[in-house]
Amino acid sequence: MKIKSLNHLMKASLLSILIISGVSCKNNQKDYEKEDNQLITLNEYRFKDLNKNGELDLYEDSRLTIEERVKDLIDKLNDEEKASLLIGIGMPGFDWETMQFMAGADLGKVPGAAGGTHKIKRLGIPSVIVADGPAGLRINPERDNDTITYYATAFPVGTALASTWNEKLINNVGKAIGNEVKEYGVDVLLGPGMNIHRNPLCGRNFEYYSEDPMLSGKIAAAIINGIQSNGVGTSVKHFVANNQERNRMGINAHVSERAMREIYLRGFEITVKNAQPWTIMSSYNFVNGTYTSSSKDLLTTILRDEWGFKGLVMTDWFGGYNNSGFNPNILKNEVSDVTKQLTAGNDLLMPGLTKQKESIIKNIKNGNLTNEAIDTNLKRILELVLKSPAMNNYKYSNKPNLKEHAEVTRQVAAEATILLKNDNNTLPFNSKSSSLAVFGNTTYNFIAGGTGSGDVNEAYTVSLIEGLTNAGFSIDKELESKYLPYVKEQNIKEMARREKEGGLLAVPKRIPELELDKSTIQNKANSSEIALITIGRNAGESGDREITNDFNLAKDEINLINNVSEAFHAKGKKVVVILNIGGVIETASWKDKVDAILLPWQPGQEGGNSVADVITGKVNPSGKLTMTFPVNYEDAAATKNWIGAPAENPTSVTYEEGIYVGYRYFNTFNVKPSYEFGYGLSYTSFDYSNLTLSSKTFTDKISISVTITNTGKTAGKEVAELYLSAPEKSIDKPREELKAFGKTNLLQPGESQTITLTLNTKDLASFIPNKNAWIVDAGTYKVLVGTSSLNIKQKAQFSIENELIVEKTNPTLALDLQFTDLKH
Ligand code: BGC
Repeated sequence: MKIKSLNHLMKASLLSILIISGVSCKNNQKDYEKEDNQLITLNEYRFKDLNKNGELDLYEDSRLTIEERVKDLIDKLNDEEKASLLIGIGMPGFDWETMQFMAGADLGKVPGAAGGTHKIKRLGIPSVIVADGPAGLRINPERDNDTITYYATAFPVGTALASTWNEKLINNVGKAIGNEVKEYGVDVLLGPGMNIHRNPLCGRNFEYYSEDPMLSGKIAAAIINGIQSNGVGTSVKHFVANNQERNRMGINAHVSERAMREIYLRGFEITVKNAQPWTIMSSYNFVNGTYTSSSKDLLTTILRDEWGFKGLVMTDWFGGYNNSGFNPNILKNEVSDVTKQLTAGNDLLMPGLTKQKESIIKNIKNGNLTNEAIDTNLKRILELVLKSPAMNNYKYSNKPNLKEHAEVTRQVAAEATILLKNDNNTLPFNSKSSSLAVFGNTTYNFIAGGTGSGDVNEAYTVSLIEGLTNAGFSIDKELESKYLPYVKEQNIKEMARREKEGGLLAVPKRIPELELDKSTIQNKANSSEIALITIGRNAGESGDREITNDFNLAKDEINLINNVSEAFHAKGKKVVVILNIGGVIETASWKDKVDAILLPWQPGQEGGNSVADVITGKVNPSGKLTMTFPVNYEDAAATKNWIGAPAENPTSVTYEEGIYVGYRYFNTFNVKPSYEFGYGLSYTSFDYSNLTLSSKTFTDKISISVTITNTGKTAGKEVAELYLSAPEKSIDKPREELKAFGKTNLLQPGESQTITLTLNTKDLASFIPNKNAWIVDAGTYKVLVGTSSLNIKQKAQFSIENELIVEKTNPTLALDLQFTDLKH
């Protein structure tokens, strides 16, 4: 075996080579082996099989920098190979004529994965496999002619994860997900999703974290750092302003640069700076007239030049095609503007269509696509390939520790549960003296997570009745015998309907509540000590939710709550509602009728156990809302501009509410919510004291500490939420904004913990469009630390003498339609 270009090689890394003739030996770092009087690394030795000349190419030498290796690789690629690498491998086994997977087709290395990059066999470059996310790995659980199963763990949906406000715990979830990704032979997880909850009706809100960008950014960074610690990648999606599903591939979102930078981009910015995701997925929509996948402003100027993103950008599946229903004729006959996408900084076109490849080759030949442009794309793709488990020939086991991960999901789902109401300590409830009267369809058919690409193929879901049974409760048998067959039958019908109407992408429909006559409910009020009612909601990719019978409860649900509450209260017994939902619903009209409300969201496969842990008090709830629950749907400013026009198939939507999204609107405009952002109760109580600032004047940083004491009788955790109210010299600002948060450890009764939070200059700044800069106004800043955005426990202030220009930005994202943002 010869080593090519020895000079180069010597220059790069001869320093660590040990010359020992005739033997293989080990130093602390690397193994070396002698062959033909030349020294090679074991890594090189591995590659000798791949190289038909028996020669070692520079790109194969892991001692060289990735940059040097990638350069060598690019030099060796011909145009055809370059074009292949710039598009994905399609969806293995998928037939574009029938829009279905073909029976018996080869589904590739990891069946059920969403795609991958092309391999270049002659150079030993493997295909890198990407699979959905984000609530766990999404692959097929079974394979043809194979008795082994490939289930993955369904973790709580994104909204639930964020409701923990616990970065450490979320980092652990990331570690577990990343382990499954790696052990099932996948290289990149297509998640997390972190679009902003602009409106309660977005069908994919369950996948996303919050209406607040700082919280979203911190939670995303925590999970990414956990996933990537396994040596696999993530794809943060959908970049950006993909806040509705209706006509998601053709909607033009008109958004001011300020709202983009402060709200819609800010979470991604925090994530990039704190976690460097291996990849980012551009979204389907246009922003101000340009597809995000063709926007140089977004993908190069902001993402790379301003934020320092180092990874690659891939499109969402068929991004750049105006084709909301995945129409095969469009996919077969049309082609996205590959030149614009690649030169904008969208490196990889997914899932990859033949027409796109042909178009790339044509445009290379006619000079529209310069080598300089595509080499930049290729460099990013190859950097990913070189660091992937596939390239390193990782021997994945197909046996991740699902048992251990089930424990992780059980724990995180319990910590994600939010206690919305708990009159007279209705919960925890532990009495086993009578059977539990459990109402509501979804109690018997718990929803672990939403539908679409975010749906994980888990081995099982623990329903609430199973969880309660596991916790030692007996379930009322009469109710069970009515609900179980009803739910089963309805569910079969609903699944058949979905199969017919788009399968994975069909919008789920709610199963109407089983009608129970009043006398049955009366009997239960006599025989049971307490009533539980579950209200369920499901939603998913490609459709948004509705106001009627969805955001607002349906008549059958209201009847159930009314009848059960009346009967149980008449007997002096209590009623608990459990919200097994993926997004915000109306609560104001019925919350007074019940005694306690628990919100576990869609809590993953161990959901029933997790909720039972909270009901029994094994876990004291410490989740907090990451969005506002309005009194009426219409209360939020963004609802006025939802869903764009024309309503059935909107092509244009204007974000006139500007930065006033979620609590930024409710608090500033004094609109009373049903439950405010940051809200969540506990079985214990906490006292806040000793708010201390490191200084009364701000220069470049300030530390803020607060002591939290458990003043109740039960151990519990509390989130300290730090809001900042800034002076409004240069621009109007929200009354207050979340700028930092910290969660205590499990505090025993009487125990205290001091939480210290730091604010940097950027945390204080607003984006001032006409100055193209993030600016901190001079004046007085109020620090508000509380248990929710409206329940502030401690206040202090600091001042800034002179205006600070924190960052100059490039002029970007010019409007294609004139409007002015809402101001207060
Ligand atoms: C979704 C993405 C997903 C991709 C691959 C798209 O339809 O919007 O979130 O990652 O499909 O399955």
